[in-house]
Amino acid sequence: MAISPSKAEAAFDTSPQDSILCSMRPRECAGLHLLAACLSRAVRQSRLLKIVASGHSELPERVFALHWSASPNSMGNFSEKADFPDSNSLDLALRHPTPDECVIIWTNTFESWGDSLPLPEYLNESLFLTTVPLAKDEGMSNWILVDKNLPPNQRPILCSCETFRKHSLTSNAVGNVDDNIVHGIASVFCAPGYRRRGYPVRMMKELAKTLPTWQLDASRCVGSILYSDIGKEYYGNLGWHPNPTNSHLTFEPRIAPKLSLGQEIVEGDLAELCKRDEIMVRKAMATPTNDVKMRVTIVPDLDHMLWHIRKEDFASRYLFGKVPPAKGAIAGSPGNQVWAIWTHRYYGPLDAEPRNNVLYILRLVVEADETATRLPLDAEKKFKGARYDEQVAYLKAVLQAAQAEAAEWKLDHVKLWDPTPLVQDMIMQSGIDHVVVEREEDSIASGMWYGENGQGSVAPLWVNNEHYAWL
Ligand SMILES: CC(C)(COP(=O)(O)OP(=O)(O)OC[C@H]1O[C@@H](n2cnc3c(N)ncnc32)[C@H](O)[C@@H]1OP(=O)(O)O)[C@@H](O)C(=O)NCCC(=O)NCCS
Repeated sequence: MAISPSKAEAAFDTSPQDSILCSMRPRECAGLHLLAACLSRAVRQSRLLKIVASGHSELPERVFALHWSASPNSMGNFSEKADFPDSNSLDLALRHPTPDECVIIWTNTFESWGDSLPLPEYLNESLFLTTVPLAKDEGMSNWILVDKNLPPNQRPILCSCETFRKHSLTSNAVGNVDDNIVHGIASVFCAPGYRRRGYPVRMMKELAKTLPTWQLDASRCVGSILYSDIGKEYYGNLGWHPNPTNSHLTFEPRIAPKLSLGQEIVEGDLAELCKRDEIMVRKAMATPTNDVKMRVTIVPDLDHMLWHIRKEDFASRYLFGKVPPAKGAIAGSPGNQVWAIWTHRYYGPLDAEPRNNVLYILRLVVEADETATRLPLDAEKKFKGARYDEQVAYLKAVLQAAQAEAAEWKLDHVKLWDPTPLVQDMIMQSGIDHVVVEREEDSIASGMWYGENGQGSVAPLWVNNEHYAWL
């Protein structure tokens, strides 16, 4: 018999070993909160938990079956020290989590990455983010480290992560450009009860072996990247070496009239802008050079932009009941344009103290920018005169639009990652206040690069280490 969520919570606390059916109507927020309370309690208490959701989104009710056990065992965390498998054990292997196991993982990761959302919304968001561009059609893979002898849904999840298949370009000294793929590793997580036993290290070592041949179609995999929030050493020791620089500029929000020069970018504009951008990126990558043997870039494609924007949609709908219409700003006429594509990122509730919500500029394009090759010899190619003044005015308009957008949407900073030499120079000229930051602990872009035959190779020059590729 299906019972209400409030009874589910009471039943969970008192029943020694049982399972229940819990029914609720769509958008029944209180019900979702209680269900979430059961979930987090189950995980905290290390009790067997299995959730089966049934029903169709068009039906008035959805039914969740919750199964649990009285004490920590099988799927629950190990309670005895002797129960922890050795991280070097041959029994441990990478596997893909089942849908039920994904719910356990997301419930565990909520404390770290719930950001502005309560648990039920975070669970919804996590599921939703498996269906959006870059993730859908097997673009995203979920990984867990488990004992390979135990059946799915009854095995402790020692740690977990996700990978995203990304379209990349490499080029060599003569400027031959190759299309290939890079896997982006994200959400490396170990539940508190399992930490400091080497499981994530083992998982990363297994991934290093698996990813070079994972999901290859016609394209070669040239490497894997991640953005470390735990400094440079942990992943560096495992072969994901930090990029030599991880810099960004921070601007403060500023209430200002909307664009005097240029206009807002809306979602419908993005496909064409990304296409034009890719043509320019290919051209820049094809520039011959004697300075750099190998270059790599993650293509700033529509899928990357939309992944960030879908995440933004979810949080802003929850926080404001609407989504921000502006996805960026653009100034100038085609061939001579400057544009920024941005995303609104809420790391915590709007009343949190201190607040640290960010308008990230995902990608900044200055069409006339010859320093965009990122080659040392091109760094001085900064044109002067009236054209320079015009470009500074366009860039200033775009950045001020970002500052105004941040003020309007209650964001605390605007961040622009890895500006080109010309952009840095023009920002200085524009007189816009900013702070230059070199990140040492968080969002450290790190890469493991595979040579022609899958063997380790020297790190290429990472062209456009901008925020769009973060995930
Ligand atoms: C980061 C995390 C995966 C590490 O898990 P773990 O089980 O402690 O990792 P391992 O057992 O494989 O490695 C332990 C070593 O990692 C290093 N380490 C662990 N957590 C660290 C952190 N937050 N910062 C820097 N180094 C860390 C230490 O050197 C530690 O060795 P020590 O115990 O001798 O000090 C885990 O703490 C976690 O899930 N944190 C929350 C999510 C997160 O931050 N993920 C990383 C995103 S990039």
